[in-house]
Amino acid sequence: MLGNFCYKNATKLYFGDDSLKYLNEELPKYGKNVQLIYGGGSIKKNGIYDQVIEILQANGKNIVEDAGVMPNPTVEKLYDGIRIARENNVDFLLAVGGGSCCDYAKAVSVSVNCDEDPWDKYYIRFEEPSCEIVPVGCILTMAGTGSEMNAGSVITNHEQKLKIGHVFGEEVMPKFSILNPRFTFSLPKKQMVAGIYDIFNHICEQYFSGEDDNTSDYLAEALMKSVIHSSLIAIENPEDYEARSNIMWTATWALNTLISRGKSTDWMVHMLGQAAGAYTDATHGMTLSAVSLPYYRYIMLYGLKKFVRFAKEVWDVSSEGKTEEQVAEDGLAAMENWMKKIGVAMSLSELGATEDMIDGITEATLILEGGYKILTKDEVKEILRKSL
Ligand code: NZQ
Ligand code: ZN
Repeated sequence: MLGNFCYKNATKLYFGDDSLKYLNEELPKYGKNVQLIYGGGSIKKNGIYDQVIEILQANGKNIVEDAGVMPNPTVEKLYDGIRIARENNVDFLLAVGGGSCCDYAKAVSVSVNCDEDPWDKYYIRFEEPSCEIVPVGCILTMAGTGSEMNAGSVITNHEQKLKIGHVFGEEVMPKFSILNPRFTFSLPKKQMVAGIYDIFNHICEQYFSGEDDNTSDYLAEALMKSVIHSSLIAIENPEDYEARSNIMWTATWALNTLISRGKSTDWMVHMLGQAAGAYTDATHGMTLSAVSLPYYRYIMLYGLKKFVRFAKEVWDVSSEGKTEEQVAEDGLAAMENWMKKIGVAMSLSELGATEDMIDGITEATLILEGGYKILTKDEVKEILRKSL
């Protein structure tokens, strides 16, 4: 049964290979000083930077550059972004990049007019903004996080060895996002598949929880099938527009709150992955792939019915002559084959994690209660050990 819920998505999306032109329609709605947020320079190599600058200039904007947003943006970079915004009286934040740029823009947006320390306020105490929020727009260049149409923002604090996400309210969501699948063609293969696994796992996190018969889980199965199908095409031909566009659109729907409506959710793979990420600074999607199978195999018997459904509906596993447990195991084996085929990390040691980090990662893992088994810290440690 679907529980009671409210659904609204505040982000306007422009999708397609002509979508950048709609920046012209959005920019006039915002003030003159635009903070242009981007990462380590990929947008300069692939030409997106020049196209965006041309449109900003044509719309008479003052461009305030804020480059160098790193994957897994840090709290130090956040302080830098807040300083840039304050010094230049910024009216609008335009993020051009992947989830890191978009998440970072949201974090800056709630901090510019706030006197308190944003790390403590938003990422430790999980408070809501009590100041004026600077509006954010996003031009997405990497499909994965769903940050383009949600209110999530993940920041890493290396000194405290913590990587924490805050899901804000709708007022923090991008006012608009521009999604051109062609912009993702220049992604290195490793980032493409990390994004694909991130998408897949976002769906799993919302699917592997609860026993109800609800529409959200049917939607989740359709999205999983779409991303699996398109991923196999994209690894062979990264410039297949149809596959890349399906991947990009699936990423958005995987984490824009739709498929979690009316049901409980898990999110333990992300808690494990984020804690490992704080220690290794590894690519987000790879931290998830490294811990997923040990975690799902560990909880499988507690949520057997759903794992059987997953095997049959998503992976076409036949149940003939098999026990439920065998069917569920075959589903996870099919998932493992697919993960290996697309080439995601299958262990934390591949990402630089070592045995002596396990205690710290265990400590940093937040335990959530929506999954099929509420883990103890000892179980977290066991799963992390198996993931090494
Ligand atoms: O820095 P640049 O030069 O832009 O290079 C980036 C970066 O090195 C590169 N890249 C992106 N688009 C490209 C490209 N290279 C060539 N061509 C392109 N078109 O890819 C690398 C990774 O980019 P990044 O933005 O870090 O990746 P992603 O989109 O996976 O974002 C990861 C961050 O999002 C957080 C993660 O924890 C991590 O910090 N997440 C945010 C979520 C949310 N807002 O809801 C949920 C997710 O679960 C996730 O936690
Ligand atoms: Zn994720």
